[in-house]
Amino acid sequence: MPRFDNQTVLVTGGTGGQGSSHVRAFHAEGAHVVIAGLDEERGAALVDELGTRALAVHLDVTDESSWSAAVAAAEEAFGGLNVLVNNAGVQNPPATVEDTDPATWSRILDVNLTGTFLGIRAAAPALRRAGGGAVVNIASTMALAGTAHYAPYVASKWAVRGLTQTAALELGRDRIRVNTILPGVIATPFIQEPAAGASTAIADFYSPEPFAVPRLGEPADVSGLLLFLASSDASFVTGAEYVIDGGLTLGPALQADAA
Ligand SMILES: NC(=O)c1ccc[n+]([C@@H]2O[C@H](COP(=O)([O-])OP(=O)(O)OC[C@H]3O[C@@H](n4cnc5c(N)ncnc54)[C@H](O)[C@@H]3O)[C@@H](O)[C@H]2O)c1
Repeated sequence: MPRFDNQTVLVTGGTGGQGSSHVRAFHAEGAHVVIAGLDEERGAALVDELGTRALAVHLDVTDESSWSAAVAAAEEAFGGLNVLVNNAGVQNPPATVEDTDPATWSRILDVNLTGTFLGIRAAAPALRRAGGGAVVNIASTMALAGTAHYAPYVASKWAVRGLTQTAALELGRDRIRVNTILPGVIATPFIQEPAAGASTAIADFYSPEPFAVPRLGEPADVSGLLLFLASSDASFVTGAEYVIDGGLTLGPALQADAA
């Protein structure tokens, strides 16, 4: 039986590189999907593609009223909300801490951190009404150590880890699990296109060759882990962090000379 039959899943940034993969994966497993994001045209196209059990809603994750409307729309269309995926995210144009414009700092923190906070805050009552559920927050391996020139992004994603653990403690007794996924480098516009205000993209200077799994991650890699964490197979998993990076954070996989 499909793992998400009769369940409703809301994915923020649901038309993005990873978001659209997550939406398709949940839908293929029987879920009703709420594609929540800024790009209404792509949202409508994804609804057309999926045919049934799909709804696109406009959601700016930084806007509290936008969140209330999205959660209400999910409950109205499909009778409840069972899973929230806080996937929307933005990166800063590379700059040292001292050269980072405070407005850029605030914008990145607003989307990546406050957006996740507002999402949990808006969805928790609906998840409780549904008898429990799961929240999965998408952070980054850049939340595990400093990365030069990415202070706003690193700080925002690092803070998402603390938010996840705290929400997991507070919501566990209501049968709501909260976990974090920390992806490495995944082939999406996020790394293939320059951040707003930047001239180069991460993909211009990153090569997966030295690492244990010498390829870029694919959105579907992350979707597989996400579906596990959102499913009842993970009913004893909460407050946890899952790195999915092909060994990037282990460092280079040095090969001994076989000769
Ligand atoms: N691609 C990677 O290498 C990588 C690595 C680690 C973590 N991540 C994280 O994965 C998540 C998904 O990124 P992606 O790789 O799919 O990139 P993407 O740029 O394709 O998708 C990001 C999505 O977030 C949406 N978004 C941005 N601001 C928003 C807002 N205010 N309200 C609603 N939606 C908003 C965008 O419209 C887009 O759909 C992000 O949180 C990102 O930080 C990505």
